[in-house]
Amino acid sequence: MDKVILGIIGYGNMGSDHAKRITNGDIPRMKLGAICDIDKAKLEKAKAVLGEDVAYFENYKDMLASGKINAVLVATPHYLHPEMVIDSFKADMNVICEKPAGVYTKQVNEMNEAAKKYGKVFSMMYNQRTNPLYVKARELIQQGELGDLRRMVWIITNWFRTQAYYDSGTWRSTWSGEGGGALINQNPHQLDLWQWLCGMPKTIRSTCYYGKWHDIEVEDDVTVFAEYENGMTATYITSTGEAPGTNRLEITGTKGKIVIEGDSMKFWQNRVDDVTYCKTAKGGFGTPELWEIQVPVKKPAYLQHNGILKNFTDAVLDGAELIAPGEEGVLGLNISNAIHMSSWTGETVTLPVDPDKFYALLQEKIANSKVVKKEAKAVESVDMSSTF
Ligand SMILES: NC(=O)c1ccc[n+]([C@@H]2O[C@H](COP(=O)([O-])OP(=O)(O)OC[C@H]3O[C@@H](n4cnc5c(N)ncnc54)[C@H](O)[C@@H]3O)[C@@H](O)[C@H]2O)c1
Repeated sequence: MDKVILGIIGYGNMGSDHAKRITNGDIPRMKLGAICDIDKAKLEKAKAVLGEDVAYFENYKDMLASGKINAVLVATPHYLHPEMVIDSFKADMNVICEKPAGVYTKQVNEMNEAAKKYGKVFSMMYNQRTNPLYVKARELIQQGELGDLRRMVWIITNWFRTQAYYDSGTWRSTWSGEGGGALINQNPHQLDLWQWLCGMPKTIRSTCYYGKWHDIEVEDDVTVFAEYENGMTATYITSTGEAPGTNRLEITGTKGKIVIEGDSMKFWQNRVDDVTYCKTAKGGFGTPELWEIQVPVKKPAYLQHNGILKNFTDAVLDGAELIAPGEEGVLGLNISNAIHMSSWTGETVTLPVDPDKFYALLQEKIANSKVVKKEAKAVESVDMSSTF
């Protein structure tokens, strides 16, 4: 094989974006082979943009059996991700899955078992893992520059969404169509980065507000407190109903602190770690000598969505290591499911979540939903840039 020939399932906002990247030639050894969408209007739109070089399908199973592709990108609503990924493995395809990996860990665990069984190249579209700031922060943490991690505080409230946004797709913002709100739609990248940078917490307690700022049944305002086995704690706050919003991540360890806000990262380092200082200082109010260090942040070889597509291509063709192995999608989803479960039960949830218990609770939400399926209303534009 000298080219990855990709079939995209779902020609919506994201699927059409990915198609454009490939036909623009941004991914040198990747070719667009086929598009599948159940919506005929979307297929017509795709044909008008992409022309006759690409094959078109209404049923993804026909696309998988067509012999026109050797890899698949799943860009459909979240609930469909695991079954489409599994069917793609069965058809001998290498696969990229859009975030989130799925809606509940029970289905994602099955997807991961299939990944193990079929042994294909499997990547999550976790493009934020290529963001130079998070790449550098991870390097500093892993090389011990912060010492032992103590606390993570992430306020990410710059996800402001209007009612028109929520009314723009019939699957959006319902338990049956989307399986959640801010946690499952806007935050999967950050919930993944949380664990990618700091590791998995042991317990989670949360308060979620459902339809606090919008006419929706799912959460649009969330506060989380998490604890780690080693005593580290994490606080995570997110909202889609707050303007102006904030995106500020602070990670503190015994030797220093990182703050990422907007396009910049600040890094301070204690000359002596605070545990040693606390035990040895003679005075009562001093603090360790503190250095503010300018950390050079370089553009990585793989950047954002193009970077994940290139990395996937390199993995398929040359055996390169994946930036976001598909099997890791379950980690951020575990955090997401635990946050929901804690708010539904009022209990502290231990991770990993009990997959059957979460599934049963989600089914109750779906069964008790009062939402009458809305007719999708056109929205002027769905700006994808804030998710990049
Ligand atoms: N990585 C990112 O930065 C990023 C950004 C936005 C969205 N996403 C993810 O991409 C996925 C799609 O989101 P979107 O905003 O493009 O949604 P969308 O509603 O615009 O597009 C989804 C498309 O899937 C099609 N579809 C539904 N069921 C199908 C089926 N059975 N077979 C074939 N096609 C089917 C729909 O007709 C629609 O065209 C979501 O899971 C979302 O979380 C990722």
